[in-house]
Amino acid sequence: MELSTNEKLVLKAIGESGMMARDVSKATGLKVEAVTHAAYLLAEKGLASVKDEVRSEYVLTEEGRRYAEQGLPERVIHDALPHSGEPLSRLKERFTQSTIGIAMGWLRQKGWARFERRDGDTLIVPLPAPMSPDEEALSIIGKGGPQEGLQEKAMKDLLRRNIVEIKEEREKFIALTPEGLELKKKGVAVEEEVGQLTPEMLASGSWQGKPFKRYDVSAPVIMEYGGKKHVLRMAMDSVKRTLIEMGFKEMEGPMVDAEFYVNDILFMPQDHPARTQWDQFNLKRPKYIKQLPRDLVNKVKEVHENGGDTGSLGWNYRWDENIAKRLVLRGHTTSLTARYLAIYRKPPQKFFSVAPVFRNDAIDMTHLLEFYQIEGWVMDEQLSMRDLMGTFKEFYSRLGIEELRFKPTYNPYTEPSLEIYGKHPRSGRMIEVGNSGMFRKEMLAPYGIECDVIAWGLALERLLMILYGYEDIRDLHGPLCDINFLRSVPVIWQR
Ligand code: PHE
Repeated sequence: MELSTNEKLVLKAIGESGMMARDVSKATGLKVEAVTHAAYLLAEKGLASVKDEVRSEYVLTEEGRRYAEQGLPERVIHDALPHSGEPLSRLKERFTQSTIGIAMGWLRQKGWARFERRDGDTLIVPLPAPMSPDEEALSIIGKGGPQEGLQEKAMKDLLRRNIVEIKEEREKFIALTPEGLELKKKGVAVEEEVGQLTPEMLASGSWQGKPFKRYDVSAPVIMEYGGKKHVLRMAMDSVKRTLIEMGFKEMEGPMVDAEFYVNDILFMPQDHPARTQWDQFNLKRPKYIKQLPRDLVNKVKEVHENGGDTGSLGWNYRWDENIAKRLVLRGHTTSLTARYLAIYRKPPQKFFSVAPVFRNDAIDMTHLLEFYQIEGWVMDEQLSMRDLMGTFKEFYSRLGIEELRFKPTYNPYTEPSLEIYGKHPRSGRMIEVGNSGMFRKEMLAPYGIECDVIAWGLALERLLMILYGYEDIRDLHGPLCDINFLRSVPVIWQR
């Protein structure tokens, strides 16, 4: 049986009755991690057993650390008193209220001072004050000394005064098996092993003839969870980069916006079911946007009421500007598209955003009140549904998703409209990842845009579901999110 140097050292260090990893570390000079690691290797060979044991010890609180350095308040005050004593009023000029407050009771209790009433003041006269058991304990704990002999009453006082607290630590207890003990009795020779080749060793040739340490890449190790970006943030960065690489520019805009930009300009009739409090979050204060652009308002009103000069009949009702002025948390980022179309009215244009949206949905596995939408649009002289589908194919394949399905759907502001589906890797089900279409002329006419615009809104969380195979959106963010899932996500998005 081949043992590494560390395994041999650990084997030799442990007695008949077993030892805590920390004590083996002290005996061998190896780090605790190295001891634990070697112990597991020994355990795999049937030579040792490793058990978790909880051990508790006293540690200093922040206040305790201060006292360990400067002395307990009663000690500080006692040592500052002149032999003949000092009136309380004068003491109050030299020390803080809290130091004096704490010290008074303990000076009395420990018999370190006499108190005399004098002229409405209190004279404090010091008495002999040998080191008390709690001071001894404070010093031992502060220095990290052995805690076995600490006096019970002193510890109770220190705990009550919040100077020390009890820390419970999980530690490994290592014991040898009969086979391990037998091997140890036979004697194990520890020869020096080369664990790491250094330039010096190569230059001097000192490595020659020495055994080399073997690596066991399957040996258990302690997991380290370093700090990293949240998986959603990583995905967001990656999506943004991908779209920028595809030639898109980013849009920015308000999360709270007027219904005009969220709904009206998208040719959504004012009695549309999505525009009720059951679906969107309205603002109480302020309730309305101050101003809307006059020229657009007039044209939108016309298109809604009778279709204007688009050839459409419109929705045939009285359009109310006050409804358009209501402020809401945006339910989609198409409000950004609506704002940007007013600025960029001439082709060619390509814009995107990755930003939060809010919907008054019932929360379940696939719905939260807030999620991130990947919005985008392309404007050019002539575009078709092929361009739309091709853009999705390109975009998703850059993120490693090849299997897409499209399904016709309806939006008041696009015609034709398409839902996009991707395949969930676990269930194999096709899940909806977004919605899209070509903007209708009723939507583009108020801007005076006569060319084609294709547009979409995709869900960032659904994209993640497909990429990582998780099934419940609530694992990802919100109050119930699963810390183990978040920890296990590898950092692969940061290019
Ligand atoms: N706004 C739509 C949604 O939230 C997505 C979309 C954007 C559809 C642009 C068509 C055009 O589902």
